[in-house]
Amino acid sequence: MEGYVLKLATERKSIRAYSSEEISLSKVLYAIRAALQAPSGANQQPWSFIVIQDPKIKEEIRKACESGERRFYRMVRGGLREWLESKGLNWEKPFLIEAPYLIAVFAQLGKPFSIQSTWLAIGYLLLALEEVGLASLTYTPPNPSEISRILGAPRDMVLQTIIPVGKAKGEKKKEPRKDLEETTYLNRWGSPLVSVVKET
Ligand SMILES: Cc1cc2nc3c(=O)[nH]c(=O)nc-3n(C[C@H](O)[C@H](O)[C@H](O)COP(=O)(O)O)c2cc1C
Repeated sequence: MEGYVLKLATERKSIRAYSSEEISLSKVLYAIRAALQAPSGANQQPWSFIVIQDPKIKEEIRKACESGERRFYRMVRGGLREWLESKGLNWEKPFLIEAPYLIAVFAQLGKPFSIQSTWLAIGYLLLALEEVGLASLTYTPPNPSEISRILGAPRDMVLQTIIPVGKAKGEKKKEPRKDLEETTYLNRWGSPLVSVVKET
């Protein structure tokens, strides 16, 4: 079976380099409206968004994130370090000023399943951005409280991610995914899907 959601999910990629092409704010707001339809614990809808377009604020965010990233990259070891190196990632985050918009997403502390619910909404948001032809990245700064301060967010709103949104600069290959058989069992752990797989 093939459908539109699977197509969008398969085509979406994390984009870390953005062109200076203008994009329409209404497309960004469309994607946030989709995010607002996500389910949430006790329907508390514990999420808030700040759409940032002011270049001065973007620069301030970049500076703060990069100083956190410098500390993080000095400390990081093991498998994560190897993975970051293999992807050519480092402390520099130019996409925070290159992308025409940043979306800061907050989860409200004290609400039931606040983090889980907010990340569901983020998933909806990413797919909707893909639908309207906009590239994005789930960037998670190592020092979220510093960024919250810059944005003047209340103390009970915890920054989850800053999503740059815009048009991709250059081409990027899709990162590989595990397949259905590797991740999904039938009825009990370890029991293969075998017969059902043929019908999906
Ligand atoms: C919770 C979460 C946190 C992430 N944090 C970062 C991040 O801080 N910096 C970054 O460059 N990518 C970040 N990513 C993007 C992942 O690296 C990316 O989704 C993954 O490598 C798969 O690539 P794809 O999104 O292109 O399919 C994050 C993704 C998720 C879901």
